[in-house]
Amino acid sequence: PLLMVKPKILVVGSINYDTIYQDVLEEGVNDNGIVYKHYTTANGGKGANQARALALMGAYSYMAGCVGNDDYGHSQIAGLKEAGVNTDYIRVDDCLQTGQSVMLMRKNGTYIGANVLGANSAVLPALVENALQNEQFDMVVMQLEMPLDTVYHTYEIAAKKNIPVILDPGPPKSISLDRLKGIYIISPNEDETEGLTGIHIHNESDALAAAKRLLQKSNAEYVILKLGSRGAYYYDGQLGKLYLPYPVNAVDSTAAGDSFTAELAISLASGRPMDEAIQRANAAGAICVSRYGGQLSVPSSDEVNRFLSKNR
Ligand code: RIB
Repeated sequence: PLLMVKPKILVVGSINYDTIYQDVLEEGVNDNGIVYKHYTTANGGKGANQARALALMGAYSYMAGCVGNDDYGHSQIAGLKEAGVNTDYIRVDDCLQTGQSVMLMRKNGTYIGANVLGANSAVLPALVENALQNEQFDMVVMQLEMPLDTVYHTYEIAAKKNIPVILDPGPPKSISLDRLKGIYIISPNEDETEGLTGIHIHNESDALAAAKRLLQKSNAEYVILKLGSRGAYYYDGQLGKLYLPYPVNAVDSTAAGDSFTAELAISLASGRPMDEAIQRANAAGAICVSRYGGQLSVPSSDEVNRFLSKNR
C-alpha cells in the first residue's frame, strides 16, 4: 500500500552553473566548428537537479553540497530554496568557484558535456556526516560529481543507519563498486554503464550482461539502467526486464536522468511498488527530455500524474 507520508530524502552531490548550446545550425567537422543557434544558462549540477526535482515531486528534500561565494553560488541556493529544498547543508566556500558545466546539444537531444568541479571538490565526508547525524532521512541519493571518498563514506554511514542509498553514477567513470557492497540501487545511463562495466549496450542481452556485472561487483539489491530513448532496464539478480520508453520529441536531455532518479527515489520511499516506480521514473525522464532548460525542465509529481493518465 502507498504510504501517504512525505519522505525525507538527502541528496549528496554537485551544484553547477550550466551553459547549454542548443539547436545545431551547422554540423562542423569532427565535432569541430559546430555552429549553434542559441544558448541558455541555468542552475544545474546532478545533485541540485535531483534535489529540486524531489522537492517538486513532494519530498522533504535536503541537499548536502558546496558552492563558491560568487553570484552563481548565491543564485543556486536561492533557486533551491524557492523550490522548497532545505539548504542548511550547502556550504559556501570562500576560496573555490561554483562548479560549472557546458553542454553541447546534439540534434537528437543527447550532449557532449564538460565540467569545472570547483566547489564540488569540497563536498567532503564531514559535511554529509553532519547532515546524517542531525536529521533522520528515509533515503539518500548521490552521484559522482564530488570526491569519491565522500561517495564511499556517505554509503558507509547511511548503511550503518539502515538508510537505503540510490547511486546515480554520473558522470561516467570507473569506481570501486566493492566499496558500495549491498547498496539499494545503482542506476547508470548507457555511458556510465560502459564506464563501470566496459560493456557497450547495443541490445537487451548486453543490458542484461552489464546489469549482471554491476550487481556482482556491488551486490546491489537492484540495478536499473537508464537507456534513454530505449527505456529502462531492471535487474534484481533473477529477473531482467526492459521498460519501454514513452514516445516524446526529445529536444534536451539535460537533467532527464536526474528527473528519472528523483522520481524513482520518491516513489520507492513513498512505498510504491518497483514496477510502478520505474514507470513513473520513465515518465519523469520523458517529460524532462521533451523540453528545454536543464534544471528548470524537471517535472512536478502533478505533471508526472497527468502525463501518465494521458499515456497509459
Ligand atoms: O545531469 C545533468 C547535469 O550534469 C547538468 O545540470 C550539469 O551541471 C552536469 O552536472
